[in-house]
Amino acid sequence: MTSKTKVYHVDPASPDDKIIREAARTLRQGGTVAFPTETVYGLGANALDQDAVSRIFEAKGRPSDNPLIVHISDSAQLDSFTAPCGELVQLLMDRFWPGPLTIVLPLKRASVSEHVTAGLDTVAVRMPAHPVALALITAAGCPVAAPSANSSGRPSPTEAAHVLDDLNGRIDAVIDGGSAGVGLESTVVEVEAGGIVRILRPGGITAEALRAAGAQVEYDIAAAPHDNGQERTPGSVELGAHEHPAAGIAPRSPGMKYAHYAPRGVMQLVQGGIDEVAAYIGKQSRNARAEGERTGVLAFHEHADRFDADHVLVIGSLGNLERAAQGLYAALRSFDDLGVSRIWAETCPEAGIGHALMNRLAKAAAQQIIRV
Ligand code: TXA
Ligand code: MG
Repeated sequence: MTSKTKVYHVDPASPDDKIIREAARTLRQGGTVAFPTETVYGLGANALDQDAVSRIFEAKGRPSDNPLIVHISDSAQLDSFTAPCGELVQLLMDRFWPGPLTIVLPLKRASVSEHVTAGLDTVAVRMPAHPVALALITAAGCPVAAPSANSSGRPSPTEAAHVLDDLNGRIDAVIDGGSAGVGLESTVVEVEAGGIVRILRPGGITAEALRAAGAQVEYDIAAAPHDNGQERTPGSVELGAHEHPAAGIAPRSPGMKYAHYAPRGVMQLVQGGIDEVAAYIGKQSRNARAEGERTGVLAFHEHADRFDADHVLVIGSLGNLERAAQGLYAALRSFDDLGVSRIWAETCPEAGIGHALMNRLAKAAAQQIIRV
Protein backbone atom coordinates (compact mmCIF):
# COMPACT_ATOMS: atom_id res chain seq x y z
CA MET A 1 0.00 0.00 0.00
CA THR A 2 1.14 3.51 -0.84
CA SER A 3 2.21 5.62 2.11
CA LYS A 4 2.66 9.06 0.56
CA THR A 5 0.26 10.60 -1.91
CA LYS A 6 1.84 13.07 -4.30
CA VAL A 7 -0.24 16.20 -4.97
CA TYR A 8 0.15 17.98 -8.33
CA HIS A 9 -1.46 21.34 -9.05
CA VAL A 10 -2.37 22.15 -12.64
CA ASP A 11 -4.26 24.77 -14.59
CA PRO A 12 -7.40 22.81 -15.56
CA ALA A 13 -7.66 24.52 -18.96
CA SER A 14 -4.06 23.82 -20.00
CA PRO A 15 -2.30 21.39 -17.68
CA ASP A 16 1.49 21.40 -17.49
CA ASP A 17 2.89 18.80 -19.86
CA LYS A 18 5.66 17.69 -17.53
CA ILE A 19 3.22 16.98 -14.69
CA ILE A 20 0.87 15.07 -16.99
CA ARG A 21 3.78 12.95 -18.27
CA GLU A 22 4.93 12.17 -14.74
CA ALA A 23 1.42 11.17 -13.63
CA ALA A 24 0.98 9.09 -16.81
CA ARG A 25 4.23 7.26 -16.01
CA THR A 26 2.81 6.38 -12.59
CA LEU A 27 -0.24 4.88 -14.32
CA ARG A 28 1.90 2.91 -16.78
CA GLN A 29 3.96 1.54 -13.89
CA GLY A 30 0.84 0.16 -12.22
CA GLY A 31 0.10 3.04 -9.82
CA THR A 32 -3.12 4.85 -8.92
CA VAL A 33 -3.70 8.51 -9.83
CA ALA A 34 -6.78 10.59 -8.99
CA PHE A 35 -7.71 13.26 -11.55
CA PRO A 36 -10.48 15.76 -12.23
CA THR A 37 -13.16 15.05 -14.81
CA GLU A 38 -16.14 17.17 -15.86
CA THR A 39 -18.37 15.14 -13.49
CA VAL A 40 -16.45 14.22 -10.30
CA TYR A 41 -12.83 13.25 -9.51
CA GLY A 42 -11.88 9.75 -10.68
CA LEU A 43 -9.29 7.32 -9.29
CA GLY A 44 -7.42 5.95 -12.30
CA ALA A 45 -5.35 2.84 -13.00
CA ASN A 46 -4.26 1.07 -16.20
CA ALA A 47 -7.37 -0.92 -17.20
CA LEU A 48 -5.18 -3.62 -18.80
CA ASP A 49 -3.19 -4.27 -15.61
CA GLN A 50 -4.89 -6.62 -13.16
CA ASP A 51 -2.70 -5.64 -10.18
CA ALA A 52 -3.11 -1.93 -10.83
CA VAL A 53 -6.89 -2.28 -10.98
CA SER A 54 -6.98 -4.28 -7.77
CA ARG A 55 -5.18 -1.33 -6.08
CA ILE A 56 -8.23 0.82 -6.86
CA PHE A 57 -10.55 -1.62 -5.08
CA GLU A 58 -8.15 -1.80 -2.13
CA ALA A 59 -7.76 1.97 -1.78
CA LYS A 60 -11.52 2.60 -1.93
CA GLY A 61 -12.63 -0.44 0.02
CA ARG A 62 -14.90 -1.14 -2.96
CA PRO A 63 -16.86 -4.40 -3.22
CA SER A 64 -15.30 -6.52 -5.97
CA ASP A 65 -18.66 -7.19 -7.65
CA ASN A 66 -19.02 -3.52 -8.61
CA PRO A 67 -17.44 -2.98 -12.06
CA LEU A 68 -15.48 0.13 -13.10
CA ILE A 69 -15.88 2.58 -15.96
CA VAL A 70 -13.07 2.53 -18.54
CA HIS A 71 -12.04 6.02 -19.68
CA ILE A 72 -10.64 6.66 -23.14
CA SER A 73 -9.39 9.77 -24.95
CA ASP A 74 -9.82 8.52 -28.53
CA SER A 75 -12.50 6.26 -30.04
CA ALA A 76 -9.78 4.21 -31.77
CA GLN A 77 -8.96 2.75 -28.32
CA LEU A 78 -12.34 0.96 -28.33
CA ASP A 79 -11.22 -1.63 -30.91
CA SER A 80 -8.86 -3.26 -28.45
CA PHE A 81 -11.48 -4.13 -25.81
CA THR A 82 -15.05 -3.82 -27.16
CA ALA A 83 -16.89 -5.66 -29.92
CA PRO A 84 -18.03 -3.55 -32.91
CA CYS A 85 -21.04 -1.40 -32.00
CA GLY A 86 -24.26 -0.55 -33.83
CA GLU A 87 -25.51 2.65 -35.39
CA LEU A 88 -27.30 4.05 -32.34
CA VAL A 89 -24.24 3.55 -30.12
CA GLN A 90 -22.16 5.34 -32.75
CA LEU A 91 -24.69 8.18 -32.84
CA LEU A 92 -24.54 8.58 -29.05
CA MET A 93 -20.74 8.65 -29.12
CA ASP A 94 -20.70 11.22 -31.94
CA ARG A 95 -23.26 13.37 -30.18
CA PHE A 96 -22.16 13.16 -26.52
CA TRP A 97 -18.44 12.30 -26.43
CA PRO A 98 -16.38 13.69 -24.96
CA GLY A 99 -18.91 14.23 -22.18
CA PRO A 100 -20.71 12.78 -19.15
CA LEU A 101 -22.25 9.76 -20.90
CA THR A 102 -21.09 6.23 -20.06
CA ILE A 103 -22.14 3.51 -22.50
CA VAL A 104 -22.23 -0.18 -21.57
CA LEU A 105 -20.76 -2.13 -24.50
CA PRO A 106 -20.10 -5.79 -25.31
CA LEU A 107 -16.65 -6.78 -24.07
CA LYS A 108 -13.97 -8.32 -26.29
CA ARG A 109 -12.68 -11.34 -24.40
CA ALA A 110 -9.27 -11.33 -22.75
CA SER A 111 -8.81 -7.58 -23.06
CA VAL A 112 -9.28 -5.40 -19.97
CA SER A 113 -8.60 -6.80 -16.50
CA GLU A 114 -11.50 -8.93 -15.26
CA HIS A 115 -11.49 -6.87 -12.06
CA VAL A 116 -12.68 -3.97 -14.22
CA THR A 117 -15.79 -5.77 -15.41
CA ALA A 118 -16.41 -7.83 -12.26
CA GLY A 119 -16.78 -10.84 -14.54
CA LEU A 120 -19.58 -9.35 -16.69
CA ASP A 121 -19.46 -9.76 -20.48
CA THR A 122 -19.98 -6.02 -20.90
CA VAL A 123 -17.78 -3.02 -20.17
CA ALA A 124 -18.81 0.55 -19.33
CA VAL A 125 -16.89 3.16 -21.32
CA ARG A 126 -16.74 6.93 -21.38
CA MET A 127 -14.64 9.70 -22.91
CA PRO A 128 -14.48 12.51 -20.36
CA ALA A 129 -14.68 16.15 -21.46
CA HIS A 130 -11.97 17.54 -19.19
CA PRO A 131 -8.59 18.70 -20.54
CA VAL A 132 -6.70 17.13 -17.59
CA ALA A 133 -8.43 13.76 -17.92
CA LEU A 134 -7.98 13.68 -21.70
CA ALA A 135 -4.29 14.70 -21.51
CA LEU A 136 -3.59 12.09 -18.82
CA ILE A 137 -5.27 9.22 -20.70
CA THR A 138 -3.51 10.20 -23.94
CA ALA A 139 -0.12 10.39 -22.25
CA ALA A 140 -0.66 7.07 -20.45
CA GLY A 141 -1.37 5.42 -23.80
CA CYS A 142 -3.78 2.90 -22.26
CA PRO A 143 -7.46 2.81 -21.35
CA VAL A 144 -7.86 4.06 -17.77
CA ALA A 145 -10.26 2.38 -15.34
CA ALA A 146 -11.60 4.98 -12.92
CA PRO A 147 -14.36 4.94 -10.34
CA SER A 148 -15.16 8.08 -8.37
CA ALA A 149 -12.16 8.84 -6.11
CA ASN A 150 -13.94 8.52 -2.74
CA SER A 151 -13.86 5.81 -0.09
CA SER A 152 -16.63 3.37 -0.89
CA GLY A 153 -19.95 4.64 0.51
CA ARG A 154 -18.84 8.28 0.90
CA PRO A 155 -20.11 11.08 -1.37
CA SER A 156 -18.15 11.39 -4.63
CA PRO A 157 -15.34 14.00 -4.58
CA THR A 158 -15.85 17.24 -6.47
CA GLU A 159 -12.56 18.79 -5.21
CA ALA A 160 -9.04 17.38 -4.80
CA ALA A 161 -9.35 18.09 -1.06
CA HIS A 162 -12.25 15.60 -0.87
CA VAL A 163 -10.04 12.96 -2.51
CA LEU A 164 -7.31 13.56 0.07
CA ASP A 165 -9.82 13.50 2.94
CA ASP A 166 -10.75 9.95 1.92
CA LEU A 167 -7.65 8.48 0.27
CA ASN A 168 -4.52 10.32 1.43
CA GLY A 169 -1.74 7.76 1.85
CA ARG A 170 -3.79 5.10 0.01
CA ILE A 171 -3.15 6.26 -3.58
CA ASP A 172 0.02 7.31 -5.43
CA ALA A 173 -1.03 10.76 -6.62
CA VAL A 174 -3.82 13.26 -7.12
CA ILE A 175 -3.87 15.95 -9.80
CA ASP A 176 -5.59 19.03 -8.38
CA GLY A 177 -7.31 20.81 -11.24
CA GLY A 178 -9.89 22.73 -9.23
CA SER A 179 -13.59 21.93 -8.97
CA ALA A 180 -15.13 19.16 -11.09
CA GLY A 181 -17.89 20.39 -13.41
CA VAL A 182 -21.33 18.75 -13.27
CA GLY A 183 -20.87 17.66 -9.65
CA LEU A 184 -22.76 14.37 -10.17
CA GLU A 185 -21.46 11.25 -11.91
CA SER A 186 -22.03 10.49 -15.59
CA THR A 187 -25.24 9.06 -17.01
CA VAL A 188 -24.83 5.30 -17.52
CA VAL A 189 -26.81 3.81 -20.43
CA GLU A 190 -27.22 0.51 -22.19
CA VAL A 191 -28.40 0.42 -25.80
CA GLU A 192 -30.95 -2.29 -26.53
CA ALA A 193 -32.38 -3.73 -29.72
CA GLY A 194 -35.15 -1.62 -31.24
CA GLY A 195 -33.46 1.71 -30.59
CA ILE A 196 -34.05 1.78 -26.83
CA VAL A 197 -31.54 3.60 -24.68
CA ARG A 198 -31.97 2.40 -21.11
CA ILE A 199 -30.74 4.72 -18.38
CA LEU A 200 -29.09 2.67 -15.63
CA ARG A 201 -27.90 5.72 -13.68
CA PRO A 202 -29.15 9.27 -14.34
CA GLY A 203 -26.44 11.93 -14.61
CA GLY A 204 -25.01 14.82 -16.54
CA ILE A 205 -26.60 13.85 -19.88
CA THR A 206 -30.33 14.14 -19.29
CA ALA A 207 -33.15 11.95 -20.63
CA GLU A 208 -34.35 15.03 -22.51
CA ALA A 209 -30.96 15.37 -24.27
CA LEU A 210 -30.96 11.66 -25.20
CA ARG A 211 -34.47 11.98 -26.64
CA ALA A 212 -33.49 15.09 -28.57
CA ALA A 213 -30.73 12.98 -30.17
CA GLY A 214 -33.41 10.57 -31.42
CA ALA A 215 -33.20 7.88 -28.73
CA GLN A 216 -36.21 6.17 -27.22
CA VAL A 217 -35.48 6.39 -23.49
CA GLU A 218 -36.45 3.86 -20.83
CA TYR A 219 -35.35 3.57 -17.21
CA ASP A 220 -33.82 0.77 -15.24
CA ILE A 221 -35.47 0.10 -11.88
CA ALA A 222 -32.74 1.99 -9.98
CA ALA A 223 -32.89 5.02 -12.27
CA ALA A 224 -36.63 5.64 -12.60
CA PRO A 225 -37.90 9.07 -11.57
CA HIS A 226 -39.60 9.09 -8.15
CA ASP A 227 -42.34 11.42 -9.22
CA ASN A 228 -44.32 9.06 -11.43
CA GLY A 229 -47.58 10.99 -11.18
CA GLN A 230 -49.12 8.60 -8.63
CA GLU A 231 -51.18 9.92 -5.75
CA ARG A 232 -49.20 9.72 -2.52
CA THR A 233 -50.69 9.53 0.91
CA PRO A 234 -49.29 12.11 3.29
CA GLY A 235 -47.21 10.39 5.94
CA SER A 236 -46.23 7.53 3.67
CA VAL A 237 -42.62 6.51 3.50
CA GLU A 238 -41.46 5.45 0.10
CA LEU A 239 -38.83 2.80 -0.36
CA GLY A 240 -37.19 2.68 -3.78
CA ALA A 241 -38.56 -0.31 -5.68
CA HIS A 242 -35.13 -1.89 -5.90
CA GLU A 243 -34.65 -1.51 -2.14
CA HIS A 244 -37.88 -3.28 -1.40
CA PRO A 245 -37.29 -6.79 -0.12
CA ALA A 246 -40.23 -8.11 -2.13
CA ALA A 247 -39.17 -6.53 -5.39
CA GLY A 248 -36.65 -9.23 -6.27
CA ILE A 249 -35.39 -7.13 -9.16
CA ALA A 250 -31.69 -6.34 -9.33
CA PRO A 251 -30.59 -3.06 -10.90
CA ARG A 252 -28.70 -3.52 -14.18
CA SER A 253 -25.86 -1.38 -12.90
CA PRO A 254 -24.34 -3.28 -9.97
CA GLY A 255 -23.22 -0.07 -8.24
CA MET A 256 -26.80 1.19 -7.93
CA LYS A 257 -27.68 -1.45 -5.35
CA TYR A 258 -25.29 -0.07 -2.76
CA ALA A 259 -26.34 2.54 -0.21
CA HIS A 260 -24.04 5.10 -1.73
CA TYR A 261 -23.31 8.78 -1.56
CA ALA A 262 -24.31 8.77 2.03
CA PRO A 263 -23.38 11.26 4.73
CA ARG A 264 -22.68 9.74 8.15
CA GLY A 265 -25.85 11.20 9.67
CA VAL A 266 -29.25 9.60 9.12
CA MET A 267 -30.97 11.44 6.28
CA GLN A 268 -34.58 11.73 5.10
CA LEU A 269 -36.13 13.57 2.15
CA VAL A 270 -39.30 15.49 2.89
CA GLN A 271 -41.65 16.17 -0.01
CA GLY A 272 -44.75 18.36 -0.11
CA GLY A 273 -45.83 22.01 0.05
CA ILE A 274 -43.21 24.22 1.70
CA ASP A 275 -45.47 25.07 4.69
CA GLU A 276 -45.97 21.39 5.49
CA VAL A 277 -42.33 20.52 4.81
CA ALA A 278 -41.08 23.33 7.09
CA ALA A 279 -43.54 22.38 9.85
CA TYR A 280 -42.62 18.70 9.67
CA ILE A 281 -38.88 19.32 9.73
CA GLY A 282 -39.24 21.90 12.50
CA LYS A 283 -41.06 19.41 14.71
CA GLN A 284 -38.72 16.53 13.94
CA SER A 285 -35.58 18.55 14.51
CA ARG A 286 -36.85 19.95 17.83
CA ASN A 287 -37.51 16.41 19.02
CA ALA A 288 -34.14 15.20 17.78
CA ARG A 289 -32.30 18.07 19.46
CA ALA A 290 -34.07 17.32 22.70
CA GLU A 291 -32.58 13.83 22.42
CA GLY A 292 -29.09 15.26 21.98
CA GLU A 293 -28.83 14.88 18.22
CA ARG A 294 -27.10 17.50 16.08
CA THR A 295 -29.53 18.43 13.31
CA GLY A 296 -29.11 19.64 9.74
CA VAL A 297 -31.32 20.69 6.85
CA LEU A 298 -30.34 20.63 3.18
CA ALA A 299 -32.39 23.42 1.66
CA PHE A 300 -32.86 25.40 -1.52
CA HIS A 301 -32.07 29.10 -1.35
CA GLU A 302 -35.73 30.09 -1.80
CA HIS A 303 -36.75 28.31 1.43
CA ALA A 304 -33.62 28.50 3.59
CA ASP A 305 -35.14 30.94 6.11
CA ARG A 306 -38.08 28.61 6.71
CA PHE A 307 -35.97 26.02 8.51
CA ASP A 308 -34.76 25.79 12.05
CA ALA A 309 -31.92 23.35 12.81
CA ASP A 310 -28.35 23.43 14.11
CA HIS A 311 -27.07 23.72 10.53
CA VAL A 312 -29.08 24.77 7.48
CA LEU A 313 -26.95 24.26 4.34
CA VAL A 314 -28.09 25.75 1.04
CA ILE A 315 -27.19 23.71 -2.06
CA GLY A 316 -28.43 26.25 -4.56
CA SER A 317 -31.55 27.67 -6.08
CA LEU A 318 -34.58 25.78 -7.37
CA GLY A 319 -34.24 28.10 -10.36
CA ASN A 320 -30.77 26.73 -11.17
CA LEU A 321 -30.58 23.01 -10.44
CA GLU A 322 -27.32 22.70 -12.43
CA ARG A 323 -25.61 24.83 -9.79
CA ALA A 324 -27.33 22.94 -6.98
CA ALA A 325 -26.02 19.64 -8.42
CA GLN A 326 -22.47 21.03 -8.27
CA GLY A 327 -22.84 21.67 -4.55
CA LEU A 328 -24.62 18.51 -3.38
CA TYR A 329 -21.67 16.28 -2.48
CA ALA A 330 -19.70 19.09 -0.81
CA ALA A 331 -22.77 19.84 1.34
CA LEU A 332 -23.13 16.17 2.35
CA ARG A 333 -19.44 16.15 3.32
CA SER A 334 -19.93 19.36 5.34
CA PHE A 335 -22.64 17.69 7.42
CA ASP A 336 -20.06 15.03 8.29
CA ASP A 337 -17.45 17.66 9.19
CA LEU A 338 -20.02 19.44 11.39
CA GLY A 339 -20.89 16.21 13.18
CA VAL A 340 -24.55 16.36 12.13
CA SER A 341 -26.35 13.15 13.08
CA ARG A 342 -29.86 13.81 11.67
CA ILE A 343 -30.45 15.43 8.27
CA TRP A 344 -33.63 16.41 6.46
CA ALA A 345 -33.54 17.51 2.83
CA GLU A 346 -35.95 19.22 0.49
CA THR A 347 -36.79 17.52 -2.81
CA CYS A 348 -36.72 19.07 -6.30
CA PRO A 349 -38.60 18.66 -9.59
CA GLU A 350 -37.20 15.81 -11.67
CA ALA A 351 -36.85 17.59 -15.01
CA GLY A 352 -33.41 17.90 -16.64
CA ILE A 353 -30.55 17.51 -14.17
CA GLY A 354 -33.21 17.48 -11.40
CA HIS A 355 -33.72 13.78 -12.16
CA ALA A 356 -30.09 12.92 -11.33
CA LEU A 357 -30.11 15.26 -8.34
CA MET A 358 -33.19 13.57 -6.85
CA ASN A 359 -31.69 10.14 -7.60
CA ARG A 360 -28.57 11.02 -5.55
CA LEU A 361 -30.57 12.71 -2.79
CA ALA A 362 -32.73 9.58 -2.50
CA LYS A 363 -29.65 7.37 -2.40
CA ALA A 364 -28.04 9.53 0.28
CA ALA A 365 -31.28 9.12 2.24
CA ALA A 366 -31.36 5.33 1.71
CA GLN A 367 -34.62 5.93 -0.25
CA GLN A 368 -36.46 7.39 2.78
CA ILE A 369 -38.88 9.91 1.29
CA ILE A 370 -41.52 11.30 3.65
CA ARG A 371 -44.60 12.80 1.98
CA VAL A 372 -46.25 15.52 4.04
O1 TXA B 1 -18.80 10.40 -13.85
C1 TXA B 1 -18.42 9.24 -13.66
O2 TXA B 1 -18.94 8.28 -14.26
C2 TXA B 1 -17.25 9.04 -12.68
C3 TXA B 1 -16.01 9.67 -13.30
C4 TXA B 1 -14.78 9.42 -12.48
O3 TXA B 1 -15.86 9.24 -14.61
N1 TXA B 1 -17.05 7.64 -12.41
C5 TXA B 1 -17.93 6.91 -11.68
O4 TXA B 1 -17.53 5.62 -11.46
O5 TXA B 1 -18.95 7.36 -11.23
P1 TXA B 1 -18.17 4.66 -10.35
O6 TXA B 1 -17.32 3.48 -10.32
O7 TXA B 1 -18.33 5.42 -9.11
O8 TXA B 1 -19.55 4.26 -10.95
C6 TXA B 1 -19.60 3.35 -12.04
C7 TXA B 1 -21.02 2.85 -12.23
C8 TXA B 1 -21.39 1.88 -11.13
O9 TXA B 1 -22.76 2.09 -10.79
C9 TXA B 1 -21.18 0.53 -11.83
O10 TXA B 1 -21.95 -0.49 -11.25
C10 TXA B 1 -21.60 0.85 -13.24
O11 TXA B 1 -21.09 2.15 -13.47
N2 TXA B 1 -21.05 -0.09 -14.21
C11 TXA B 1 -19.75 -0.30 -14.53
N3 TXA B 1 -19.63 -1.27 -15.44
C12 TXA B 1 -20.87 -1.69 -15.75
C13 TXA B 1 -21.41 -2.68 -16.64
N4 TXA B 1 -20.62 -3.44 -17.39
N5 TXA B 1 -22.76 -2.83 -16.68
C14 TXA B 1 -23.57 -2.05 -15.91
N6 TXA B 1 -23.12 -1.10 -15.06
C15 TXA B 1 -21.79 -0.93 -14.97
MG1 MG C 1 -18.79 6.04 -7.23
